[in-house]
Amino acid sequence: MDTTKNILANWTQEIPESEIRRLLKSKAKYYLAAGLPGNLPTKIFPQILRELADYYDADEKNVINEFQYGPTAGITGLRKVLAERIHQRDGAGIISGAEEWEKVMITTGSQQAIYLALDILINPGDIVVTPSPAYLGFITTVVKVGGHAVTAPTDNEGLIPEYVEDTIIKSEKEFGRKVKILYVVEDSDNPKGTTLSFKRRQQLFNIAEEHDVIVMCDAAYKEIQFEQRIPTMKTLDKDNNRVIYTSSSSKEAAPLRIGYSIMPDMLLSQAEKSKGYLDLCTPTLTQRVAEIYYDKYIDEQLPIIVKKYKERKDAAFNALIETFPDGDYTNPTGGFFIWWQPKGEKAYTFDVNKFNQEVLSPNEVLVVPGKAFYPPHGHSYDPEARKIVPLKVINGGMRIGYSFLQKDMIDIGVRKLGKLLHENLEKS
Ligand SMILES: Cc1ncc(COP(=O)(O)O)c(C=O)c1O
Repeated sequence: MDTTKNILANWTQEIPESEIRRLLKSKAKYYLAAGLPGNLPTKIFPQILRELADYYDADEKNVINEFQYGPTAGITGLRKVLAERIHQRDGAGIISGAEEWEKVMITTGSQQAIYLALDILINPGDIVVTPSPAYLGFITTVVKVGGHAVTAPTDNEGLIPEYVEDTIIKSEKEFGRKVKILYVVEDSDNPKGTTLSFKRRQQLFNIAEEHDVIVMCDAAYKEIQFEQRIPTMKTLDKDNNRVIYTSSSSKEAAPLRIGYSIMPDMLLSQAEKSKGYLDLCTPTLTQRVAEIYYDKYIDEQLPIIVKKYKERKDAAFNALIETFPDGDYTNPTGGFFIWWQPKGEKAYTFDVNKFNQEVLSPNEVLVVPGKAFYPPHGHSYDPEARKIVPLKVINGGMRIGYSFLQKDMIDIGVRKLGKLLHENLEKS
């Protein structure tokens, strides 16, 4: 065999290991780099497993029927329960309820739905517009399947519609091909924690219609909302031909790895075909656990979980306000993350990677550096120059995760971070 490097596919050389996966191997007492759920219905899952065990014990036929490969798009019971939940949760017009269960596709995490959608839509060089910064599991996958990522600026409310439209127009001109996908995380984005107003959702949907761009609307944090939910832009997609809507059980029921999506019919059948080649089906046993959880327990469990996340967010936010140097930061209304970046040029030049390794880590603190939320290559829209420029990375930004640690630990960790920023930012 030749050297390992020569036998590997090209993308393995192009795409590094995710910074978040790499950081998971590091230990720190004040680990603010995590996106791991720290509040789970720990008492409920064993109860559901016991219920299922009784059901399987009662009749061998139950075992034979269910301990099987399942349909690629998911088991009917779970699809019905989730169709009803999406109907109740996400605003009128997205789906009429359990009777439209065939519109819901189950995937192994919503990450798989992202992969499937990109897999069936992207040809080499196709342009995908993403927020700057954006969920790395999306942007890196864009590059992996051969797409060309162009980042559009965000503020404390997320994507800025006017700039998104200009990004589409200027990218099409610059690269001589149509923009195919616009990626949006409406509620509590990862990494910034921003939530789009309904007005912006409407504007972004109209821009996508106008320029014939498919929207990938990622609702991963839809269940973890501290305030009343804003209807999703998928409700505007009356003909179900513009928006791919993906959501997840992961943030409140992590071990199940259940993602669920609604997408235009033609894309749904292609995504199902692609999934067939990826994993044949999502494990049927976890789908059964999810079916029972969403049918019987989520309404009672979710408020308890969300309240704890809100307390953790408050602890992180208050500590940040009291101890950080001057900068731009978000105050999330849901999800797992706060974003902070220095003012002015330092937003681009302060090296948080280095700061993590040389300063934070020896002090038992870790965050995720802004650079992790950019593709290995691509372009950006520059709002001052109003043109497409080489990739512009907010190196000085950092994602502060409050989902995993207890609130007193978050308080100490974020205060330490503030103090270390004060000591190091100016001299960097
Ligand atoms: C914005 C966003 N989308 C999708 C995912 C994938 O989630 P999962 O595969 O666990 O459903 C994540 C996970 O962190 C995320 O933050």
